[in-house]
Amino acid sequence: MKTYRIGVIGLGQRIAHVLAAMKEVGWPLDIAGFSDPAPVGAPILAEHGIATGKPYADARALLKDGPFDLVMIGSPNHLHYEHLLAAFAAGFPIFAEKPIVRTQEESFALARHLANKKTPPLYIGLVMRSMPIVRAVIQYVDDGKLGEIVSMDATEHLHPEHGGYLARNWRRKQAWGGSYFLDKVCHDLDIFGRLMGSRAARVASFGSRKIFHPGRKDVRAAYDNGAAAYALRDAGWGAANDAFHSDMDVTDHQTALVEYAGGALLSFHSNTHVSLQERRWYIAGTQGTLLADLVRNKLMFRGSFATGKPERMEWNERTDDNHNGADQAMARDLLATFEKNAEFPVTPHDSLEAGLTVMAIDRAMETKQVVDCAPMWADYDRSRASALK
Ligand SMILES: NC(=O)c1ccc[n+]([C@@H]2O[C@H](COP(=O)([O-])OP(=O)(O)OC[C@H]3O[C@@H](n4cnc5c(N)ncnc54)[C@H](O)[C@@H]3O)[C@@H](O)[C@H]2O)c1
Repeated sequence: MKTYRIGVIGLGQRIAHVLAAMKEVGWPLDIAGFSDPAPVGAPILAEHGIATGKPYADARALLKDGPFDLVMIGSPNHLHYEHLLAAFAAGFPIFAEKPIVRTQEESFALARHLANKKTPPLYIGLVMRSMPIVRAVIQYVDDGKLGEIVSMDATEHLHPEHGGYLARNWRRKQAWGGSYFLDKVCHDLDIFGRLMGSRAARVASFGSRKIFHPGRKDVRAAYDNGAAAYALRDAGWGAANDAFHSDMDVTDHQTALVEYAGGALLSFHSNTHVSLQERRWYIAGTQGTLLADLVRNKLMFRGSFATGKPERMEWNERTDDNHNGADQAMARDLLATFEKNAEFPVTPHDSLEAGLTVMAIDRAMETKQVVDCAPMWADYDRSRASALK
Protein backbone atom coordinates (compact mmCIF):
# COMPACT_ATOMS: atom_id res chain seq x y z
CA MET A 1 0.00 0.00 0.00
CA LYS A 2 1.30 3.47 -0.84
CA THR A 3 1.84 6.12 1.83
CA TYR A 4 -0.95 8.70 1.65
CA ARG A 5 0.24 12.30 1.45
CA ILE A 6 -2.23 14.31 3.51
CA GLY A 7 -2.88 18.04 3.84
CA VAL A 8 -4.94 19.26 6.81
CA ILE A 9 -7.05 22.44 6.93
CA GLY A 10 -8.09 23.00 10.54
CA LEU A 11 -5.94 20.76 12.74
CA GLY A 12 -8.37 20.67 15.67
CA GLN A 13 -9.27 17.98 18.16
CA ARG A 14 -11.59 16.16 15.79
CA ILE A 15 -9.25 15.80 12.81
CA ALA A 16 -6.46 14.75 15.18
CA HIS A 17 -8.70 11.96 16.54
CA VAL A 18 -9.68 10.87 13.03
CA LEU A 19 -6.00 10.79 12.00
CA ALA A 20 -5.16 8.76 15.13
CA ALA A 21 -7.93 6.28 14.24
CA MET A 22 -6.61 6.10 10.65
CA LYS A 23 -3.14 5.27 11.93
CA GLU A 24 -4.59 2.70 14.36
CA VAL A 25 -6.36 0.78 11.58
CA GLY A 26 -3.26 0.72 9.36
CA TRP A 27 -3.42 3.75 7.05
CA PRO A 28 0.12 4.43 5.84
CA LEU A 29 -0.02 8.22 6.17
CA ASP A 30 2.23 11.22 6.10
CA ILE A 31 0.88 14.66 7.04
CA ALA A 32 2.76 16.83 4.57
CA GLY A 33 1.39 20.08 6.02
CA PHE A 34 -1.45 21.90 7.70
CA SER A 35 -3.06 25.33 7.84
CA ASP A 36 -4.41 26.37 11.24
CA PRO A 37 -3.74 29.55 13.22
CA ALA A 38 -3.72 27.67 16.56
CA PRO A 39 -3.72 23.87 16.00
CA VAL A 40 -5.47 22.60 19.11
CA GLY A 41 -5.20 19.02 17.78
CA ALA A 42 -1.37 19.04 17.65
CA PRO A 43 -0.91 17.56 21.18
CA ILE A 44 -3.37 14.77 20.31
CA LEU A 45 -1.29 13.89 17.22
CA ALA A 46 1.89 13.97 19.34
CA GLU A 47 0.29 11.52 21.81
CA HIS A 48 -0.28 9.15 18.91
CA GLY A 49 3.20 9.56 17.44
CA ILE A 50 2.02 11.41 14.30
CA ALA A 51 4.07 14.37 13.02
CA THR A 52 2.05 17.46 12.07
CA GLY A 53 4.09 18.31 8.95
CA LYS A 54 4.82 21.81 7.71
CA PRO A 55 2.66 24.76 8.86
CA TYR A 56 1.20 26.97 6.12
CA ALA A 57 -0.19 30.50 6.41
CA ASP A 58 -3.61 29.52 5.05
CA ALA A 59 -5.53 26.89 3.12
CA ARG A 60 -4.59 28.29 -0.30
CA ALA A 61 -0.86 28.24 0.46
CA LEU A 62 -1.16 24.64 1.67
CA LEU A 63 -3.17 23.51 -1.37
CA LYS A 64 -0.62 25.07 -3.76
CA ASP A 65 1.97 22.67 -2.37
CA GLY A 66 0.15 19.55 -3.64
CA PRO A 67 -0.41 17.02 -4.90
CA PHE A 68 -2.19 15.49 -1.93
CA ASP A 69 -3.82 12.06 -1.84
CA LEU A 70 -6.30 13.47 0.68
CA VAL A 71 -7.16 16.93 1.97
CA MET A 72 -8.80 16.81 5.41
CA ILE A 73 -11.00 19.71 6.58
CA GLY A 74 -11.58 20.07 10.33
CA SER A 75 -12.11 23.81 10.71
CA PRO A 76 -15.06 25.37 12.58
CA ASN A 77 -18.36 25.05 10.70
CA HIS A 78 -18.53 28.61 9.32
CA LEU A 79 -15.33 27.97 7.34
CA HIS A 80 -16.34 24.66 5.75
CA TYR A 81 -17.87 26.19 2.62
CA GLU A 82 -14.84 28.41 1.92
CA HIS A 83 -12.41 25.55 2.60
CA LEU A 84 -14.41 23.12 0.46
CA LEU A 85 -14.38 25.54 -2.49
CA ALA A 86 -10.60 26.01 -2.15
CA ALA A 87 -10.13 22.22 -2.07
CA PHE A 88 -12.50 21.73 -5.06
CA ALA A 89 -10.37 24.21 -7.04
CA ALA A 90 -7.20 22.30 -6.10
CA GLY A 91 -8.87 19.07 -7.26
CA PHE A 92 -7.65 16.58 -4.61
CA PRO A 93 -9.93 14.05 -2.82
CA ILE A 94 -11.42 15.53 0.34
CA PHE A 95 -12.52 14.31 3.75
CA ALA A 96 -14.48 17.07 5.50
CA GLU A 97 -16.09 17.09 8.90
CA LYS A 98 -19.84 17.50 9.42
CA PRO A 99 -21.95 19.57 9.21
CA ILE A 100 -21.01 19.83 5.55
CA VAL A 101 -21.86 23.58 5.56
CA ARG A 102 -23.49 26.02 7.98
CA THR A 103 -26.39 27.74 6.17
CA GLN A 104 -29.20 27.04 3.72
CA GLU A 105 -27.65 29.39 1.11
CA GLU A 106 -24.32 27.55 1.37
CA SER A 107 -26.18 24.23 1.03
CA PHE A 108 -27.86 25.27 -2.23
CA ALA A 109 -24.61 26.74 -3.59
CA LEU A 110 -22.69 23.59 -2.67
CA ALA A 111 -25.35 21.41 -4.34
CA ARG A 112 -24.64 23.35 -7.55
CA HIS A 113 -20.89 22.79 -7.18
CA LEU A 114 -21.47 19.07 -6.62
CA ALA A 115 -23.52 18.90 -9.83
CA ASN A 116 -20.33 19.80 -11.70
CA LYS A 117 -18.75 16.50 -12.78
CA LYS A 118 -15.24 17.89 -12.23
CA THR A 119 -15.75 18.15 -8.45
CA PRO A 120 -13.26 15.80 -6.71
CA PRO A 121 -14.47 12.95 -4.45
CA LEU A 122 -15.86 14.27 -1.16
CA TYR A 123 -16.31 12.18 1.99
CA ILE A 124 -18.15 13.67 5.00
CA GLY A 125 -17.41 12.59 8.57
CA LEU A 126 -20.95 11.62 9.53
CA VAL A 127 -19.26 8.97 11.60
CA MET A 128 -22.43 7.33 12.97
CA ARG A 129 -22.95 5.79 9.52
CA SER A 130 -19.90 3.63 10.25
CA MET A 131 -20.94 2.60 13.80
CA PRO A 132 -21.59 -1.15 14.00
CA ILE A 133 -24.79 -0.62 16.07
CA VAL A 134 -26.14 1.92 13.57
CA ARG A 135 -25.36 -0.44 10.70
CA ALA A 136 -27.34 -3.14 12.55
CA VAL A 137 -30.33 -0.78 13.02
CA ILE A 138 -30.29 0.07 9.30
CA GLN A 139 -30.09 -3.65 8.47
CA TYR A 140 -33.12 -4.49 10.67
CA VAL A 141 -35.12 -1.79 8.91
CA ASP A 142 -33.91 -2.70 5.40
CA ASP A 143 -34.66 -6.40 6.03
CA GLY A 144 -38.27 -5.41 6.73
CA LYS A 145 -38.24 -6.80 10.28
CA LEU A 146 -40.03 -3.72 11.62
CA GLY A 147 -42.53 -3.64 8.76
CA GLU A 148 -43.46 -0.04 8.02
CA ILE A 149 -42.01 2.49 10.48
CA VAL A 150 -44.92 4.32 12.11
CA SER A 151 -43.23 6.47 14.72
CA MET A 152 -40.02 6.84 16.67
CA ASP A 153 -38.60 8.83 19.53
CA ALA A 154 -34.97 9.68 20.02
CA THR A 155 -32.76 11.43 22.52
CA GLU A 156 -29.30 12.83 22.89
CA HIS A 157 -28.43 13.94 26.40
CA LEU A 158 -24.96 15.17 27.32
CA HIS A 159 -22.96 15.17 30.54
CA PRO A 160 -22.58 18.64 32.18
CA GLU A 161 -18.87 18.73 31.23
CA HIS A 162 -19.76 18.22 27.58
CA GLY A 163 -22.44 20.91 27.79
CA GLY A 164 -19.99 23.26 29.54
CA TYR A 165 -17.46 22.67 26.75
CA LEU A 166 -20.06 23.49 24.07
CA ALA A 167 -20.94 26.69 25.98
CA ARG A 168 -17.28 27.82 25.93
CA ASN A 169 -16.12 26.54 22.55
CA TRP A 170 -16.82 28.28 19.17
CA ARG A 171 -19.99 26.14 18.87
CA ARG A 172 -21.71 28.51 21.32
CA LYS A 173 -22.19 31.07 18.54
CA GLN A 174 -24.51 30.70 15.55
CA ALA A 175 -22.07 32.66 13.39
CA TRP A 176 -19.43 29.95 13.90
CA GLY A 177 -21.27 26.73 14.69
CA GLY A 178 -24.67 27.29 13.03
CA SER A 179 -26.78 25.98 15.89
CA TYR A 180 -26.64 23.49 18.72
CA PHE A 181 -28.69 21.01 16.67
CA LEU A 182 -26.71 21.57 13.47
CA ASP A 183 -23.41 20.86 15.14
CA LYS A 184 -24.49 18.08 17.46
CA VAL A 185 -27.43 16.16 16.04
CA CYS A 186 -27.04 16.40 12.24
CA HIS A 187 -25.63 12.85 12.68
CA ASP A 188 -28.92 11.60 14.12
CA LEU A 189 -31.14 13.43 11.62
CA ASP A 190 -29.01 11.93 8.82
CA ILE A 191 -29.68 8.40 10.08
CA PHE A 192 -33.40 9.08 10.71
CA GLY A 193 -33.85 10.25 7.09
CA ARG A 194 -32.11 7.05 5.95
CA LEU A 195 -34.35 4.87 8.16
CA MET A 196 -37.57 6.65 7.17
CA GLY A 197 -36.62 6.48 3.48
CA SER A 198 -38.06 9.93 2.85
CA ARG A 199 -37.38 13.59 3.56
CA ALA A 200 -38.85 15.69 6.36
CA ALA A 201 -42.15 17.18 5.20
CA ARG A 202 -43.15 19.31 8.24
CA VAL A 203 -41.19 20.21 11.36
CA ALA A 204 -41.80 21.93 14.69
CA SER A 205 -39.34 22.70 17.46
CA PHE A 206 -38.92 24.40 20.83
CA GLY A 207 -35.70 25.26 22.61
CA SER A 208 -33.91 27.91 24.64
CA ARG A 209 -31.06 28.54 27.11
CA LYS A 210 -32.03 27.59 30.64
CA ILE A 211 -28.72 26.06 31.71
CA PHE A 212 -25.73 28.11 30.53
CA HIS A 213 -26.72 31.73 31.15
CA PRO A 214 -25.58 34.50 33.53
CA GLY A 215 -28.88 34.58 35.43
CA ARG A 216 -28.26 31.19 37.09
CA LYS A 217 -28.02 31.55 40.86
CA ASP A 218 -27.41 27.88 41.65
CA VAL A 219 -24.22 27.11 39.67
CA ARG A 220 -21.86 24.77 41.48
CA ALA A 221 -18.10 24.94 41.11
CA ALA A 222 -17.41 21.32 42.00
CA TYR A 223 -18.86 17.80 41.96
CA ASP A 224 -19.60 15.94 45.19
CA ASN A 225 -16.09 14.40 45.13
CA GLY A 226 -14.43 17.84 44.94
CA ALA A 227 -13.49 17.67 41.23
CA ALA A 228 -13.84 21.05 39.48
CA ALA A 229 -16.97 21.43 37.34
CA TYR A 230 -17.09 22.85 33.79
CA ALA A 231 -13.32 22.77 33.49
CA LEU A 232 -12.66 19.53 31.67
CA ARG A 233 -11.39 20.47 28.23
CA ASP A 234 -9.33 23.10 26.49
CA ALA A 235 -12.07 24.96 24.63
CA GLY A 236 -9.73 25.84 21.72
CA TRP A 237 -10.17 28.43 18.97
CA GLY A 238 -12.45 31.38 19.81
CA ALA A 239 -12.98 30.05 23.34
CA ALA A 240 -14.82 31.85 26.16
CA ASN A 241 -13.52 31.54 29.72
CA ASP A 242 -16.76 30.83 31.49
CA ALA A 243 -19.61 28.56 30.39
CA PHE A 244 -22.19 30.78 32.14
CA HIS A 245 -20.90 34.23 31.24
CA SER A 246 -20.21 34.11 27.53
CA ASP A 247 -21.78 35.45 24.36
CA MET A 248 -23.51 32.11 23.68
CA ASP A 249 -26.50 32.48 21.35
CA VAL A 250 -27.43 28.84 20.62
CA THR A 251 -29.81 26.64 22.62
CA ASP A 252 -28.67 24.38 25.44
CA HIS A 253 -31.74 22.12 25.24
CA GLN A 254 -34.19 21.63 22.40
CA THR A 255 -37.01 19.39 21.22
CA ALA A 256 -38.24 18.71 17.69
CA LEU A 257 -41.14 16.99 15.96
CA VAL A 258 -40.78 15.78 12.38
CA GLU A 259 -43.37 14.37 10.01
CA TYR A 260 -41.63 12.57 7.14
CA ALA A 261 -42.96 12.60 3.58
CA GLY A 262 -43.68 8.86 3.90
CA GLY A 263 -45.93 9.58 6.91
CA ALA A 264 -43.72 8.33 9.76
CA LEU A 265 -43.31 10.55 12.83
CA LEU A 266 -40.28 11.45 14.94
CA SER A 267 -40.00 13.18 18.28
CA PHE A 268 -36.55 14.21 19.43
CA HIS A 269 -35.33 15.53 22.81
CA SER A 270 -31.87 16.83 23.59
CA ASN A 271 -30.30 18.41 26.68
CA THR A 272 -26.69 19.44 27.36
CA HIS A 273 -26.61 19.01 31.15
CA VAL A 274 -27.79 15.63 32.38
CA SER A 275 -26.47 13.21 34.96
CA LEU A 276 -27.87 10.16 33.16
CA GLN A 277 -26.32 10.29 29.69
CA GLU A 278 -28.40 8.94 26.87
CA ARG A 279 -28.48 8.59 23.12
CA ARG A 280 -31.40 6.30 22.44
CA TRP A 281 -33.65 5.50 19.51
CA TYR A 282 -37.02 3.77 19.97
CA ILE A 283 -38.49 2.76 16.63
CA ALA A 284 -42.04 1.41 16.36
CA GLY A 285 -43.00 -0.37 13.15
CA THR A 286 -46.09 -2.31 12.11
CA GLN A 287 -44.23 -5.61 12.52
CA GLY A 288 -41.77 -4.97 15.32
CA THR A 289 -40.14 -2.59 17.78
CA LEU A 290 -36.45 -1.75 18.04
CA LEU A 291 -34.61 0.00 20.86
CA ALA A 292 -31.02 1.12 20.27
CA ASP A 293 -28.98 2.41 23.21
CA LEU A 294 -26.04 4.14 21.57
CA VAL A 295 -24.26 5.02 24.82
CA ARG A 296 -24.22 1.44 26.12
CA ASN A 297 -23.89 0.02 22.59
CA LYS A 298 -26.88 -2.35 22.98
CA LEU A 299 -29.79 -3.12 20.69
CA MET A 300 -33.07 -4.90 21.42
CA PHE A 301 -35.76 -6.01 18.98
CA ARG A 302 -38.99 -7.95 19.23
CA GLY A 303 -41.50 -8.77 16.53
CA SER A 304 -45.00 -7.44 17.23
CA PHE A 305 -46.40 -10.93 17.68
CA ALA A 306 -43.37 -12.61 19.27
CA THR A 307 -44.02 -14.04 22.71
CA GLY A 308 -40.45 -14.98 23.67
CA LYS A 309 -37.60 -12.81 24.89
CA PRO A 310 -36.48 -9.91 22.69
CA GLU A 311 -33.50 -10.39 20.36
CA ARG A 312 -30.50 -8.65 21.91
CA MET A 313 -27.23 -7.53 20.37
CA GLU A 314 -24.33 -5.93 22.18
CA TRP A 315 -21.01 -4.52 20.99
CA ASN A 316 -18.10 -4.64 23.40
CA GLU A 317 -16.28 -1.61 22.08
CA ARG A 318 -17.09 1.38 24.35
CA THR A 319 -15.01 4.51 24.39
CA ASP A 320 -15.26 7.74 26.42
CA ASP A 321 -16.16 9.78 23.32
CA ASN A 322 -19.34 7.65 22.95
CA HIS A 323 -18.25 6.93 19.39
CA ASN A 324 -17.69 3.35 20.53
CA GLY A 325 -15.27 2.33 17.81
CA ALA A 326 -16.97 4.35 15.06
CA ASP A 327 -13.86 6.43 14.31
CA GLN A 328 -11.86 3.31 13.57
CA ALA A 329 -14.74 1.86 11.48
CA MET A 330 -14.97 5.13 9.50
CA ALA A 331 -11.19 5.11 8.97
CA ARG A 332 -11.50 1.59 7.52
CA ASP A 333 -14.43 2.69 5.30
CA LEU A 334 -12.40 5.63 4.01
CA LEU A 335 -9.36 3.48 3.24
CA ALA A 336 -11.60 0.99 1.39
CA THR A 337 -12.81 3.78 -0.93
CA PHE A 338 -9.19 4.34 -2.03
CA GLU A 339 -7.85 0.79 -1.95
CA LYS A 340 -10.91 -1.19 -3.06
CA ASN A 341 -13.02 1.40 -4.81
CA ALA A 342 -15.70 0.72 -2.18
CA GLU A 343 -18.61 3.10 -1.63
CA PHE A 344 -18.34 5.37 1.43
CA PRO A 345 -21.43 4.88 3.66
CA VAL A 346 -22.68 8.46 3.33
CA THR A 347 -22.79 10.82 0.34
CA PRO A 348 -22.36 14.62 0.26
CA HIS A 349 -26.05 14.82 -0.71
CA ASP A 350 -27.09 12.81 2.36
CA SER A 351 -25.03 15.28 4.38
CA LEU A 352 -26.65 18.31 2.74
CA GLU A 353 -30.13 16.88 3.32
CA ALA A 354 -29.40 16.16 7.00
CA GLY A 355 -28.13 19.73 7.41
CA LEU A 356 -31.13 21.27 5.63
CA THR A 357 -33.51 19.23 7.80
CA VAL A 358 -31.85 20.59 10.94
CA MET A 359 -31.93 24.14 9.53
CA ALA A 360 -35.69 23.79 8.95
CA ILE A 361 -36.08 22.57 12.54
CA ASP A 362 -34.18 25.61 13.82
CA ARG A 363 -36.31 27.90 11.66
CA ALA A 364 -39.43 26.36 13.19
CA MET A 365 -38.04 27.04 16.66
CA GLU A 366 -37.12 30.65 15.84
CA THR A 367 -40.43 31.47 14.14
CA LYS A 368 -42.58 29.41 16.54
CA GLN A 369 -44.32 27.99 13.47
CA VAL A 370 -44.71 24.56 11.93
CA VAL A 371 -42.40 24.74 8.90
CA ASP A 372 -43.48 23.18 5.61
CA CYS A 373 -40.24 21.88 4.08
CA ALA A 374 -41.53 21.55 0.50
CA PRO A 375 -40.26 24.95 -0.76
CA MET A 376 -36.81 24.26 0.70
CA TRP A 377 -36.58 20.85 -1.03
CA ALA A 378 -37.76 22.40 -4.31
CA ASP A 379 -34.93 24.99 -4.12
CA TYR A 380 -32.45 22.26 -3.20
CA ASP A 381 -33.51 20.00 -6.09
CA ARG A 382 -33.28 22.95 -8.50
CA SER A 383 -29.75 23.62 -7.24
CA ARG A 384 -28.76 19.96 -7.70
CA ALA A 385 -29.98 20.12 -11.28
CA SER A 386 -28.06 23.29 -12.21
CA ALA A 387 -24.32 22.68 -12.25
CA LEU A 388 -21.96 25.60 -11.80
CA LYS A 389 -19.48 25.88 -14.66
N1 LIG B 1 -17.86 13.68 13.38
C1 LIG B 1 -17.85 13.96 14.66
O1 LIG B 1 -18.26 13.18 15.46
C2 LIG B 1 -17.29 15.27 15.12
C3 LIG B 1 -16.91 15.45 16.45
C4 LIG B 1 -16.38 16.66 16.82
C5 LIG B 1 -16.27 17.68 15.88
N2 LIG B 1 -16.67 17.48 14.61
C6 LIG B 1 -16.56 18.57 13.60
O2 LIG B 1 -15.18 18.79 13.34
C7 LIG B 1 -14.95 20.18 13.08
C8 LIG B 1 -13.91 20.70 14.06
O3 LIG B 1 -14.37 20.54 15.38
P1 LIG B 1 -13.37 20.32 16.60
O4 LIG B 1 -14.15 19.75 17.71
O5 LIG B 1 -12.16 19.61 16.14
O6 LIG B 1 -13.04 21.85 16.93
P2 LIG B 1 -11.64 22.43 17.43
O7 LIG B 1 -11.93 23.77 17.98
O8 LIG B 1 -10.95 21.41 18.28
O9 LIG B 1 -10.80 22.56 16.07
C9 LIG B 1 -11.03 23.54 15.10
C10 LIG B 1 -9.66 23.95 14.55
O10 LIG B 1 -9.87 24.85 13.44
C11 LIG B 1 -8.85 25.84 13.54
N3 LIG B 1 -9.14 27.02 12.72
C12 LIG B 1 -9.78 28.18 13.09
N4 LIG B 1 -9.78 29.04 12.05
C13 LIG B 1 -9.14 28.43 11.02
C14 LIG B 1 -8.80 28.82 9.69
N5 LIG B 1 -9.14 30.03 9.19
N6 LIG B 1 -8.14 27.93 8.90
C15 LIG B 1 -7.78 26.73 9.37
N7 LIG B 1 -8.06 26.30 10.63
C16 LIG B 1 -8.74 27.13 11.43
C17 LIG B 1 -8.75 26.12 15.02
O11 LIG B 1 -7.55 26.80 15.37
C18 LIG B 1 -8.82 24.71 15.59
O12 LIG B 1 -7.54 24.11 15.73
C19 LIG B 1 -16.29 20.86 13.23
O13 LIG B 1 -16.88 21.00 11.96
C20 LIG B 1 -17.11 19.90 14.07
O14 LIG B 1 -18.49 19.99 13.85
C21 LIG B 1 -17.16 16.30 14.21
